[in-house]
Amino acid sequence: MPTTPAFDMVLFGGTGDLAMRKILPALFEAHRDANLHPDGRIIALGRADGSTESYLQQVEEQARPHTRVPPDDPAWRSFLERIRFHKLDAANLADFQALAGALADAATPRVVVCYLATAPRLFTQICSHLAACGLNHGDVRVVLEKPLGHDLASSEQINAEVGRHFAEHQIYRIDHYLGKESVQNLMAIRFGNVLFEPLWRREWIDHVQITIAEDLGVEGRGEFYEKTGALRDMLQNHLLQLLCMVAMEPPASLHADAIRDEKLKVLKALRPITQDDVPRYTVRGQYRAGAAGGKPAVGYRQEPDVAPDSRTETFVAVRAEVGNWRWSGVPFFLRTGKRMPERLAEIVISFRDVPLRLFAMPQALQGANRMVIRLQPEERISLHFLAKQAGDGMRLQSTSLALDLLSTSQRRRADAYERLLLDVIRGQLGLFMRRDELTAAWRWVEPILETWESDASDPKPYTAGTWGPAASSALLSRDGVSWHEEL
Ligand code: BG6
Repeated sequence: MPTTPAFDMVLFGGTGDLAMRKILPALFEAHRDANLHPDGRIIALGRADGSTESYLQQVEEQARPHTRVPPDDPAWRSFLERIRFHKLDAANLADFQALAGALADAATPRVVVCYLATAPRLFTQICSHLAACGLNHGDVRVVLEKPLGHDLASSEQINAEVGRHFAEHQIYRIDHYLGKESVQNLMAIRFGNVLFEPLWRREWIDHVQITIAEDLGVEGRGEFYEKTGALRDMLQNHLLQLLCMVAMEPPASLHADAIRDEKLKVLKALRPITQDDVPRYTVRGQYRAGAAGGKPAVGYRQEPDVAPDSRTETFVAVRAEVGNWRWSGVPFFLRTGKRMPERLAEIVISFRDVPLRLFAMPQALQGANRMVIRLQPEERISLHFLAKQAGDGMRLQSTSLALDLLSTSQRRRADAYERLLLDVIRGQLGLFMRRDELTAAWRWVEPILETWESDASDPKPYTAGTWGPAASSALLSRDGVSWHEEL
């Protein structure tokens, strides 16, 4: 890959958790691989007084541990030379004018990336102040971190405000799942091979399961999580984006809008879940005390900054349907949860049974044709099918073919943030959400949010370290199927 063009990466929220854990380590990896232009600067912003020297100390303590390099690593030392710290209060226009002055001293023309790793309530103010200082010209790009809004109306409002100052092609809405190597591999597998396409439709597929499970709890983010919950935090964005990747039609090209047009069609084709449907097609759960990773884990309501009678969901499962010719009638079961038995993200494509059973087959072997795409922690594809058991008679057994995608390439896997940051600097929009996609996703989840908010009953409890409440299994059993781990 050629290096990026020259750039200034302006990091709003430069002292925050995301900057330290993800953004700076990702930029470092890109720097170490010589993918960043030598004339690329990182301008970290923070509200408190500070100097570049004190900021670098913080980077040393909080960001370097995520890079796994020693302090004297030459690449790390040269990376630090790119970084400057500026004090900026988002409410203070004069601070933005000073920032614009500091950027103007660049020796060469460059793209300016304004990464808004801040609370979303600051987005509109930051964008209007940037514009007031002329920092919305054609070479400026603005990166917005999720959550983009709290519901349809607030997301529309943020998008409209940001849109007053920046053209849509300058706006990069991050969903870091789209930057994962394994998620892009989904596109490669679907559209780079002729093998799967004929089977990828309602005639041959019985149902699809998409799971993102985490063994961690809310990890000190109780205050944020109380206002968010699993539906907003994971389903509205990551899970729906994965659903789009599975269900979309082949795009006409890899042009950003060709891909985004196809994803949008899927989101628009999702059958609405009306408020009356919510009890039947959704499950909301909340973890109780249990054990995770072999250690006792407290319940969600006992986590710091969580109300003792909180009704925020830490688990959600939904039965969705894509109402178009390819998918009509095929259930897509989506689920995500905190404090589940393990960290995994997986897509299971379950094929129909053969039209005529020639062989006697135990119940357990029905629906045995499955393609399991493991996105993390491993990247693996396995195809499950039936073959003959050795010996007398015609007895079948389940067997599988597995491909470890990691072993197919010796090259280092770029982290999702690294890839996405490089794409922003290079001006590639394909892995970012367009405004209409976001709106369509919010529109679809809105009735679920509203119904849950007006429902005074508690979410269904599940013990930490399990696969969610019993109602989650019941959601599938109504279609005569089971979650993958229950098979
Ligand atoms: C984030 C959510 O978007 O994704 C977190 O806000 C969640 O709550 C995280 O833990 C999961 O991402 P990953 O890449 O670790 O699966």
